[in-house]
Amino acid sequence: MESHGVDSLNNRDIKNEVACHQSGTLISAKNPYISEKNENNVKDWKQWKKEKKELHKKWKQQRMIQKAEKLKQKEEQMKEKEDKEREENLEKEKVGRDYTVSIALPGSILDNAQSPELRTYLAGQIARAATIFNVDEVIIFDEIGMEKMEVSTEGEFTGVKKKGQANLQMARILQYLECPQYLRKHIFPLHPDLQFAGLLNPLDSPHHLRTKDICPFREGIVVNRPAREGKGSFVYVGQKKDVRVDKLIKPGVRVTVKMELDKMNPKRPKGVAVMPCTPRVEGGLYWGYAVRLACSLAAVFTECPYKEGYDLTVGTSERGMSVDEVTLSPFKHMLVVFGGLNGLEACLDSHESLEIDDPKFLFSYYLNTCPNQGSRTIRTEEAILISLAAIRPKILEVQGR
Ligand SMILES: C[S@@+](CC[C@H](N)C(=O)[O-])C[C@H]1O[C@@H](n2cnc3c(N)ncnc32)[C@H](O)[C@@H]1O
Repeated sequence: MESHGVDSLNNRDIKNEVACHQSGTLISAKNPYISEKNENNVKDWKQWKKEKKELHKKWKQQRMIQKAEKLKQKEEQMKEKEDKEREENLEKEKVGRDYTVSIALPGSILDNAQSPELRTYLAGQIARAATIFNVDEVIIFDEIGMEKMEVSTEGEFTGVKKKGQANLQMARILQYLECPQYLRKHIFPLHPDLQFAGLLNPLDSPHHLRTKDICPFREGIVVNRPAREGKGSFVYVGQKKDVRVDKLIKPGVRVTVKMELDKMNPKRPKGVAVMPCTPRVEGGLYWGYAVRLACSLAAVFTECPYKEGYDLTVGTSERGMSVDEVTLSPFKHMLVVFGGLNGLEACLDSHESLEIDDPKFLFSYYLNTCPNQGSRTIRTEEAILISLAAIRPKILEVQGR
């Protein structure tokens, strides 16, 4: 009974203390109503309270750590998402190609061919090699270094069988093959240099489109049909309907057209005349090669059409360094030069103005692209295919593709 009373008292006291504690006035341990047992209970309770506080503190700390971890995780996820988006954007940007590859070779290699048909076929092989490897510019240079050379394929024909016209003939056949079939008769009048060109294998490149092919760009020729004042010009792009472009351009000029269908009237196609490099730069499309005639090896470099010049030049020879040991340096405009029957050394001999007798000093790299070759000599047309195939993975590597 008594113990029950004490217990009741204890309970009451504890309740009291809790009540007082809650109201901010803790009952003293010397409270006369509190027995020793009670005092122990109060101590236990204080201990419990302390532990509880401790636990609460730990729990709070843990919650803070958890919150910080969650925040960190969220930040990492955001960063990952941003990185992925950046990579995707980069990939999208990489759709376009901002670098170019040029090749240079002497036109004199045609003189080694035995017949007009074989001369033509040889030029066709160069055109196919250039197209297969997405070459943007083909430069035909004079090996001997003529002081003045006809650098246009327009003008009088002086004979397909004659030697000496090899540069012009090579350039003309290359231009003919590069031009989409539907434009050829508008751009190339009959010419004996092109007598056998119709028999050549087509290049079948992305800008050689058929009537019904759909492509965001088309090559065309401005027709002699005036559009209304201020309404630009009409361009024949190899389709039934001529495309109206924004600019007023002289009839007969070849243009690259960025196509846009008139949403109001699809039967009246519209487009914008763009630079020939736009399909490559914007869409990563291979859009054929430009042909340039150079009166000497020196002019190959000095008359570069890119205002920054060629920033990576490669000379090719069996005496060069093995292509297998080379990593190319980054570039915007690459030039690969091939020699003729007697190689690049012979070209330099006739170029006193260059004041260099070893071609390896003329180029960033002087490469043997077919180490351990099985034939004593590799012909220029073969060397072009071999070299471009060997250099291709190195270009892709250095351009991050
Ligand atoms: C018929 S070869 C010239 C051979 C000549 N006897 C020489 O010493 O260079 C014509 C061209 O093909 C290219 N060529 C031939 N063999 C090559 C090789 N192993 N590596 C790179 N280019 C080569 C060079 O551009 C050369 O100027």
